[in-house]
Amino acid sequence: MKEELDALLIDIESRSFESADQVEAFRVEFIGRHGKMKDLMVQFRSVAPELKRELGPLINQVKGAVEARVAQEQSNFNNKEAVNASGIDLSRPSGGVPLGTHHPLQVVRREIVSIFKNMGYGVVEGPEIEDDWHVFSGLNFPPEHPARDMQDTFFVERNPDLLLRTHTSSVQVREMERRKPPMRIIMPGRVFRNEAVSARAHCMFHQIEGLYIDEDVSFADLKQMILYFTKAMFGKSKLRFRPSFFPFTEPSAEVDIYWGLESETDYRLTKGTGWLEIMGCGMVDPKVLENCNIDPENYSGYAFGLGIERIAMLIYEIPDIRLFFENDVRFLKQFKS
Ligand code: DAH
Repeated sequence: MKEELDALLIDIESRSFESADQVEAFRVEFIGRHGKMKDLMVQFRSVAPELKRELGPLINQVKGAVEARVAQEQSNFNNKEAVNASGIDLSRPSGGVPLGTHHPLQVVRREIVSIFKNMGYGVVEGPEIEDDWHVFSGLNFPPEHPARDMQDTFFVERNPDLLLRTHTSSVQVREMERRKPPMRIIMPGRVFRNEAVSARAHCMFHQIEGLYIDEDVSFADLKQMILYFTKAMFGKSKLRFRPSFFPFTEPSAEVDIYWGLESETDYRLTKGTGWLEIMGCGMVDPKVLENCNIDPENYSGYAFGLGIERIAMLIYEIPDIRLFFENDVRFLKQFKS
């Protein structure tokens, strides 16, 4: 009888089932009213008492094995039925994990940063909440300048003033105070202005600021750098410098590139002139150098600033600046770096 029980144990473990009905048949075969366990119990009764001690636990083991398999297989098939009823097809390949893309502003920022890195510029960032000195006074803005008006910018605290920086030029001051020339850096970041939001203007946007200070830096160096940049960035090299004014540079200029008038888009973008403004620039005002404890007798430098949104809108022909900040996936997924 012992061999019979051992064989049964192997049999029980090796069974496989294709349906809940088969599990039920297995249950009846072993522990049903006329099942194998019944026969075994009948045989067991007539076994010699000293053998009973050995066979008893073995019979219990067989019964336990049957019950365990039945319980496990039943729950298995119950789950499968529930899944089938819910209409989920577990054999279907998964859809994969959708990969995000870089934000178009990030794509353009990286592109610009990498061009300047190739020219030997380092990258520096500064705080978005700034004091009056770094945003205005240090940069030679006169006390009555309208940019200092509560209406024009976002003030966090007054007296002493803390505000959201209106331009990345604040980082110039921080860096000039912090280190000694020569320095050649670009400073990308987010800036804020109290603008009425429209297709062309937003209360939040991004700039890249540039600064080069050394002995004998001239306007010719500035022009050459911009020429290199525009060729690398846009593949265009026809430039125009228009005289302009910024409190922190002297002389100051606005730079236009000749975009061309080949397509209808060119006409629209350039308002029929073929020219597009891309940045402001100038020679760092000696007063600003002094403010930062750099001797203007020994050092000179140039600075420039450009808007990332503006350039992204140009390159990708994006008609509305608000699209950058709405986070609509249908918009964002069109851009790949
Ligand atoms: N800070 C200026 C602005 O936000 C941009 C600018 C112009 C930066 C000329 C410069 C510069 O560094 O030289 O409008």
